[in-house]
Amino acid sequence: MFATNKDSVIIQSMNKIESVKAHVNENRQIKDNYYLLELETEAPIPKMFPGAFVMLSFPGRLDPLLPRPMGLFQVLEESGKSCRFNIGYVVIGKGTRLMSELTKGNVLGCVGPLGNGWKMDLLNSAEKVILVAGGIGITPLYIPAMELAGKKDVTLLFGGAGANDLVFTDKFEKLGIDIKLYTEDGSQGSKGFVTKGLADEITDNSAILACGPEGMLRAVSDIALQKGIDPQLSFDKRMACGFGVCLGCNIAIKEEDGVYQRRVCKEGPVFFGGEVVW
Ligand SMILES: Cc1cc2nc3c(=O)[nH]c(=O)nc-3n(C[C@H](O)[C@H](O)[C@H](O)COP(=O)(O)OP(=O)(O)OC[C@H]3O[C@@H](n4cnc5c(N)ncnc54)[C@H](O)[C@@H]3O)c2cc1C
Ligand code: FES
Repeated sequence: MFATNKDSVIIQSMNKIESVKAHVNENRQIKDNYYLLELETEAPIPKMFPGAFVMLSFPGRLDPLLPRPMGLFQVLEESGKSCRFNIGYVVIGKGTRLMSELTKGNVLGCVGPLGNGWKMDLLNSAEKVILVAGGIGITPLYIPAMELAGKKDVTLLFGGAGANDLVFTDKFEKLGIDIKLYTEDGSQGSKGFVTKGLADEITDNSAILACGPEGMLRAVSDIALQKGIDPQLSFDKRMACGFGVCLGCNIAIKEEDGVYQRRVCKEGPVFFGGEVVW
């Protein structure tokens, strides 16, 4: 059977995909169901970038069979031999429950870095950068916050269901950026959704990066577009492969000549609010 052009693109992209062993250095419970995992790859991997994610698998286990996507939180050390990095995660099901049981010396399979992350170059001309996070969506915003702190006016709007969902705030506080917290139950910060104060934060020359549940991303997009700002949104979809072959993570994206299904793992996870068909 002959491969079509589309097939050969897939085969080429598969050839670049390699799983490396990642050793657990530390796996710390931060609060409630939230954890911080430090991994160190056994072999070099391509350079990490802001907004990238990795697919983590459990070697030697058939269940869970599929790897789990996890966003890059912090790069601790990158060398020609290995990469040491952090993942922040929340336990919601079997895979993340297993992750929470990992201890120093355990090994995961790691594919990555994957995806198209934050378009950091587009932030150069912005006077103010507004980061909007919902729950564990806070972690991929840390690298942009670190890179922009002290150079630009940076505001973080961070929301969760309750105080236990507002994690890793200490890391952002150390950067000296402006932080506004929201909880739905009013247990910390202002009572309400994280999008409550967004319209008031937006200036003529703002840029917005957001990560969180889809409903939050849509609200951020609506508010920002009304103010003439097209926000960058990092999407969280269930993923089977993570590198573009299973076509299981599509969302509808408007392009010049029509609407197309685009893969969150390959063309995303970051898309502009103005191009998403909700
Ligand atoms: C690009 C990307 C980056 C991510 N980064 C992080 C991260 O840094 N930290 C983190 O904690 N999580 C992150 N996630 C979400 C994480 O991958 C899922 O929470 C995880 O795969 C769930 O696995 P599980 O086996 O624990 O749950 P499962 O047993 O597979 O599912 C439990 C429940 O959660 C739902 N669910 C599972 N996966 C998702 C999902 N991706 N989106 C919405 N609902 C889901 C299921 O429908 C089910 O109801 C990311 C997802 C993507 C796509
Ligand atoms: S997860 Fe397989 S194509 Fe995106």
